[in-house]
Amino acid sequence: MSYKNILFEIKNKIVYITINRPDKLNALNSETFTELHDAFTKANEDIGVVGVILTGSGEKAFVAGADITELAVQTPVTAKEFALRSEVVLCYIERMSKPVIAAVNGFALGGGCELTMACHMRVASENAKFGQPEVNLGLIAGNGGTQRLPRLVGKGRAIELLCTGDMISAEEAYRIGLANKITKKEELISTCEKILSTIASKAPVAVKLTLEAVQSGMEMTLAEGLNFEANLFGLVFSTDDMKEGTKAFIEKRKAEFKGK
Ligand code: COA
Repeated sequence: MSYKNILFEIKNKIVYITINRPDKLNALNSETFTELHDAFTKANEDIGVVGVILTGSGEKAFVAGADITELAVQTPVTAKEFALRSEVVLCYIERMSKPVIAAVNGFALGGGCELTMACHMRVASENAKFGQPEVNLGLIAGNGGTQRLPRLVGKGRAIELLCTGDMISAEEAYRIGLANKITKKEELISTCEKILSTIASKAPVAVKLTLEAVQSGMEMTLAEGLNFEANLFGLVFSTDDMKEGTKAFIEKRKAEFKGK
C-alpha cells in the first residue's frame, strides 16, 4: 500500500510512523486509520524490527483528534461503524508484539489522545498538550477514551478530563501517569530511541510475552491474570535465551540473546 497521510521509515531496526497532515494538525480521517493499520501490520510482521515510534508531522501537533469534517456528516449507524473500524486499528496497535512508543510532539486531543493510549508508552515533549475535548462538540470519546483513560489514570481523573474537556500540559500528564516521561522538544525522538534500544538488548521472547501478559491480563480478573502469567512464565522456560540468561548471570558475564 502506498501512503498519502502517513510517512513510514525503517532505520536501525526501528519503524518510524509519522502522521503527516500538518495543515490539519494531523487529524485522523478514515483513510489515515486504514494506512496506520497497514503500517503497523508491516512493522509487526517484520522480524528484524525491534519497535515502533509513532509521532506527528509539523511543529504543533501529534494528532488534534478525529477529522471533525468527516465526523460532522455521520449518521448514528455510520458513526458507530467508524468507531468500531478505528477501534480495530487501536486494538491492533495495543496488541503489537513489539513495543510501540507515542512520541507526543504537540496537541494530542480526542482521537489523538486515544491513539497515544493504545501505544505501550507515551513520551511527551515539553510543549505537548493532552485532552479529550469531545464534549465541546456535543460528542463523547469514541476511540476508547472512556475505557483506556480510566485504566491508565484512574476513574476520577479520567471522568474529570472526559467531562470538562480541559487540555492538560505535559507536566500534568506526567504527574497523573498518562505520560511516561517529559523531554525537551529536540530530545523527544532520541529519548524514545533510547528506551527501544534498552528493550532491544533484552531477551526478545521474554519482552514479547511480557507485552502479552500485561495486555491480556488487564482484561482478566486478577486470578485469571495470575494464572495466565504463570502459563507464560512456564512457557519462557522452553527458550534458549532463558538458559543463556540464567547461565550468564551465574558465570558473571553478559548474556547473548538469540531470540529463541
Ligand atoms: N479535525 C479537522 N480539522 C482540524 C482538526 C480536527 N480535529 N483540528 C484542527 N484542524 C484543522 C483546522 O480546521 C485548521 O484548518 P484550516 O487551516 O483549513 O482552517 C487547521 O487544522 C489548523 O487548526 P487551527 O484551529 O487553526 O489551529 P489553532 O492553533 O488555532 O488551534 C487546536 C489548535 C488544536 C486548539 C484547534 O485546532 C482545535 O481545537 N482542534 C480540534 C480539537 C478537537 O476537538 N479534537 C477532538 C475531535 S473529536
